Amino acid sequence: MRITAAVSRPGQPEPRLEALELEAPRPDEMLVRIVAVGICHTDLHEHPGRHAPQPIVLGHEGAGVVEALGEGVRGFAIGDHVILSGSSCGQCPSCLAGRPTYCDLAMPMSFGGKRLDGSTSLCCRQGDGEPEKIHSHFFGQSSFATHSIVPERTAVKVDKSLLLEMLAPLGCGVITGAGAVIEALKVGYGDSIAIFGTGGVGLSAVMAARLVGAARIVAVDINRARLDLALELGATHAIDAGGEEVTRQIRAVTGRGMSFSFNTTTVPAVHSMALDCLAMNGTAGFVAAPRGEWAPAMFPMLAGGRQLRGILGGDANPRLFLPKLIDYWTQGRFPFDRLVTTYGFDEIGKAFHDCEAGTVIKPVLKVSEA
Ligand SMILES: NC(=O)c1ccc[n+]([C@@H]2O[C@H](COP(=O)([O-])OP(=O)(O)OC[C@H]3O[C@@H](n4cnc5c(N)ncnc54)[C@H](O)[C@@H]3O)[C@@H](O)[C@H]2O)c1
Ligand SMILES: [Zn+2]
Ligand SMILES: [Zn+2]
Repeated sequence: MRITAAVSRPGQPEPRLEALELEAPRPDEMLVRIVAVGICHTDLHEHPGRHAPQPIVLGHEGAGVVEALGEGVRGFAIGDHVILSGSSCGQCPSCLAGRPTYCDLAMPMSFGGKRLDGSTSLCCRQGDGEPEKIHSHFFGQSSFATHSIVPERTAVKVDKSLLLEMLAPLGCGVITGAGAVIEALKVGYGDSIAIFGTGGVGLSAVMAARLVGAARIVAVDINRARLDLALELGATHAIDAGGEEVTRQIRAVTGRGMSFSFNTTTVPAVHSMALDCLAMNGTAGFVAAPRGEWAPAMFPMLAGGRQLRGILGGDANPRLFLPKLIDYWTQGRFPFDRLVTTYGFDEIGKAFHDCEAGTVIKPVLKVSEA
């Protein structure tokens, strides 16, 4: 079928809308009409072609309506509303243990730009020549598009009464921040946590830390407006990362350092702070690698029994975790909709630039009517 999708091509400042052709779903796949799709910083990182091959359709916070089913799909019906979240094989030990973000095939399935058999679902046909292959299946979805072919395992069914344009960011940014706090670090009553970077991921972590009853939630950023929002959403302290003696200020909140830190930045100096602010036996979780040279100071990690922990997709199993977050959201106890700014699909370039500039937290493109 003919669709419209935003394609990332080498040298282009932002993805541009093009007419493409989309295959029919394979037996384990579904055709989803995209209603809305969030933009995550990983889309910004990948647009210039960091890990994934080009040309490619990015987008990995899709939400939409099932329009066709492969003959092997059992868990969905045409007309179901779904949010899309990650891709995994379903067969490896991690998948069998219900930990799909650590699927043995997570990297090729998320960033490979194709199915595992090497095929893509998209092509660009101009004139009578050989069609140009366009990479697809980014995080099992490539949802900067009017329609997407997704493996059944990528989709999570949601109630039809809920606004898909609000639910879209759950699939990556929100699950990553909230899952890191609840599922990975298992922050709880009486704990303290410093959250570095209060973008979509960090603010989701702030809200989750409040939800689980953390006693001290310290938000750290260089963006004052975001720190103010963090205080509204549950942070007990907000610290300007550009200020003096930031680590000392954070440690002083409890008098002995933090039980946890969660770093959403790529700044090497912040990776150091996220370890230095820990109390004895504390854990520093991170979701993005430092840009540039960085090595942890090993002796304080040893002498303090401290841990440094990479976290993918918040450690969370989307089909179990996202319905719980939606439940808290509908009760008003996890107001992640406060992060969202909506744009038309044809405004994707502006949304990318606003996201990069930090003037919006979670841009969501409205692609079609539910
Ligand atoms: N591991 C995963 O599963 C996963 C999933 C989603 C996103 N990510 C990554 O997480 C990161 C965060 O995503 P996001 O959408 O929240 O991005 P974002 O840009 O909205 O948030 C980052 C925040 O860090 C702040 N910041 C920048 N420099 C700082 C400094 N020196 N000190 C303190 N704060 C500083 C920025 O002002 C911003 O608010 C991205 O790198 C993204 O690629 C990882
Ligand atoms: Zn797997
Ligand atoms: Zn993401």
